Amino acid sequence: MTYAAITGWGKAMPPAVLSNADLSTFLDTNDEWITSRTGMKERRVSHVSASEMAIVAAKRALACAGLDAKDVDLVIYGSCSSDEIVPNSASGVQTAIGATSAAAIDLNTACTSFLYSLSTATAMIKTGVIRNAVVIGVELISPFMDWDNRNVAVLFGDGCAAVVVQASEKEEGVLGEQLGCLAHVRHTLRVRGMGCAYTNSGVVSGDTSWDFDGQEIFRHAVQGMTRASADVLKKCGVTPDQVDLVVPHQANLRIIEAVVTRSGIPMDKVMLTVERYGNMSAATVPVALTEAVETGRVKPGALILMPAFGAGLTVCAHLVRWGERVTPLAQSDAELSPVKRSALDMIGDIRARKTDAAARSGAGLANPRLPEALL
Ligand code: ACO
Repeated sequence: MTYAAITGWGKAMPPAVLSNADLSTFLDTNDEWITSRTGMKERRVSHVSASEMAIVAAKRALACAGLDAKDVDLVIYGSCSSDEIVPNSASGVQTAIGATSAAAIDLNTACTSFLYSLSTATAMIKTGVIRNAVVIGVELISPFMDWDNRNVAVLFGDGCAAVVVQASEKEEGVLGEQLGCLAHVRHTLRVRGMGCAYTNSGVVSGDTSWDFDGQEIFRHAVQGMTRASADVLKKCGVTPDQVDLVVPHQANLRIIEAVVTRSGIPMDKVMLTVERYGNMSAATVPVALTEAVETGRVKPGALILMPAFGAGLTVCAHLVRWGERVTPLAQSDAELSPVKRSALDMIGDIRARKTDAAARSGAGLANPRLPEALL
């Protein structure tokens, strides 16, 4: 039987840090509230495009795997923040990294996009469609964040990481996964102003505002991730005590604690990045996974549980068997272009542009042009 081993990993984190204190300079919030309710202290704001982050992370993951870009069969760009819709972003990454023989897919299931992309690549490898893939989880949330809404503005950050998966005869990579969607509560998280449904709605594309029912999402996230984790462990015949490490989606430290505790796994087995990076949506799990390997928390042969949820509300949990190698075969010299402005200054620019755009359009909140049942 063919498996899809994870053989390369690499991240590309924008360096500009936005602290809780920075947020409280323009929002009615404070470090105590954010830390106690979410576990977050700071997040990153990107000065470069989502694609640039993806290209650097992909190059680093390929060097780590020792795989030549020309031999890549597939690039998957897991994200809800593509640079453009047409052409897709994966094609841009494909050409920039020199993976000229590769197919290129964008995949959007919001925060779960990386894990759904990993499932897609794994299934294609197991069925012989491809031999390998670069799987990217990237998010550039700062341009479409509703920066004047404290309910959401404190929660998110930008970031990116990628992995390389390759066909293997050894029992490695994704051993099983549970995928699902709690679509009856899809209205609890909606970004207005992104997508074709807003054409002719009076809203300037990109003039975004967020519908966000935090408590409702919290409840469903805990239930959904806990159930998906139990289902995948059962499917794979694994008990909670056999799990070596949990690398969860990091939307809120309290959500993670609730899921892990209900799953019967101690918190010291959890890789946490939420304090430093906040919720980077699709980038959260691959960044945490990469840092877990880099810091020695992933041992050869480790069993890793990765539960996640995202807008939709998509839910999933993946069980991964790590291979023998926990060190990169080589390092890439790829770097993000240098940052010139502070995170707070960049946010100031975005807020000013959004105010201008809204004033020009004269529009307020618009409903998307969608069937009644989807609103
Ligand atoms: N600073 C200060 N006060 C705030 C802030 C803030 N940033 N945000 C809200 N408050 C206030 C509220 O207005 C409310 O005040 P009130 O009691 O006077 O009305 C009070 O704090 C309590 O708000 P709650 O909503 O009860 O706070 P809660 O403990 O539920 O935490 C939170 C809110 C952090 C949003 C939590 O519900 C949560 O994490 N939900 C899930 C978040 C999430 O899933 N995000 C990702 C979605 S999917 C994806 O990953 C793309």
